[in-house]
Amino acid sequence: QRSIACLASLSETHQILQRTCREFANAELAPKARHHDREELFPAEQVRRLGELGLLSVAVREEYGGSGLDYQAYAIGMEEVARGDAAVAIVMGVNNLFLGAVQQHGSEEQKRDFLIPYTQGANIAFYALSEPGNGSDAGAASTTAKLEGDSYLLNGTKAWISNSKEASGGLVFATVDKSLKHKGITAFLTEKDVPGLSIAKKESKMGMRATSTCQLVLEDVQVPRSRVLGNPGDGFKIAMQSLDCGRIGIAAQATGIAQAALELAVDYSQKRIAFGKQLARMQLIQQKLADMASRVEASRLLTWRAAWLKDNGLPFTKEAAMAKLHASEAATYCSHQCIQVLGGMGYTTDLPAELYYRNSRVTEIYEGTSEIQRIVIANAVLRELGS
Ligand code: CAA
Ligand code: FAD
Repeated sequence: QRSIACLASLSETHQILQRTCREFANAELAPKARHHDREELFPAEQVRRLGELGLLSVAVREEYGGSGLDYQAYAIGMEEVARGDAAVAIVMGVNNLFLGAVQQHGSEEQKRDFLIPYTQGANIAFYALSEPGNGSDAGAASTTAKLEGDSYLLNGTKAWISNSKEASGGLVFATVDKSLKHKGITAFLTEKDVPGLSIAKKESKMGMRATSTCQLVLEDVQVPRSRVLGNPGDGFKIAMQSLDCGRIGIAAQATGIAQAALELAVDYSQKRIAFGKQLARMQLIQQKLADMASRVEASRLLTWRAAWLKDNGLPFTKEAAMAKLHASEAATYCSHQCIQVLGGMGYTTDLPAELYYRNSRVTEIYEGTSEIQRIVIANAVLRELGS
């Protein structure tokens, strides 16, 4: 019952946050999004403002420099930022993924070095789990960590690492013993500017072009034992737990893109005249708007429900996967339909429909593909309902 009440009406704090983020997105994100995308320019000024507004650390406790809000607040902020510019939102999302892991598993010394400095925009972080040989099969990491004296030496290549060009530091997952499979994976905190750590290939992407996605090469990178997050061998569970939270963020990001596509389609359909009347008066167009609006609403409710469960200390792995699966597919559906409602104008770069389309697509891929979300959901359903 409480869950339903929380979804039906937002608290005053959540309403103020939503309004503030919407105004910020309208005034400072949306107007620049296409320029940053076209020029592949990192939105440095916009990320600085995210820091000022407390949006880079919404759910980090105030004692560590965060905003001290809950996960529903994070989902609300993320949706509004993504409605303005989904590329800016992914900077926020990856930073949050990192900070969540450090807040939950870090020692006080690690929090001093890797939580507090990353909360307000002075530094942003990367989260390096995937590798060229394994993305979905995250337990198969082949980057190695060998203990020598009081430090580990890390060797290998991590792939697809968001924020990696601009980040000051982050989390690297590597195995201390490959024969242990996922039980050998260990999470290491490191600054980026350390001997042996370099950025290799920068990917040329379909969307999210304002953010960097690169390979990170590690050649004898020395990481002191004191910078192991949790214990050696805890890395896979740390990754899974932080990704459960991260998936709520990607669901919110996708909802924001879908909402932006819906708003553009509504606006255009009321202005464009064909066969002597507004597109918005044609029932085939109305069907598209109705389907888009229903999917946006369902995405938002699934996302807020997963956040509510997390905020109340209840299990939320399945619900986060459901929210991410539904919202990402809603985002690609809505941006596809938005182009259709706009006709030829949807296919040009004069309007942002094509940007929504390109940006939406990756929400079905990163932080676990749609297939992986279905596996997580099916495993949970079989446990709950199976004999
Ligand atoms: N929370 C805690 N523990 C969990 C867990 C969870 N959500 N899910 C699994 N585990 C534990 C299991 O209990 C099990 O523990 P034991 O060893 O003690 O029994 C262990 O982890 C292994 O579990 P599985 O056998 O289920 O693991 P698996 O190898 O079959 O993999 C998977 C499961 C869900 C497919 C997982 O590999 C996965 O999520 N893959 C997708 C990877 C991914 O999302 N990558 C995102 C990279 S970051 C990114 O992309 C950033 C960005 O967006 C910009
Ligand atoms: P694969 O695992 O090779 O999968 C290929 C296809 O096979 C997919 O359709 C997949 O769903 C399917 N498949 C795989 N296994 C199964 C199965 N068991 N059953 C059914 N189907 C299956 N990673 C990070 O660590 N940090 C980042 O910051 C980061 N940022 C990213 C940013 C972008 C723009 C992109 C594109 C990716 C990013 N990633 C990041 C990587 C991302 O998480 C992976 O691309 C994703 O997890 C999929 O892994 P893969 O690309 O290796 O695909």
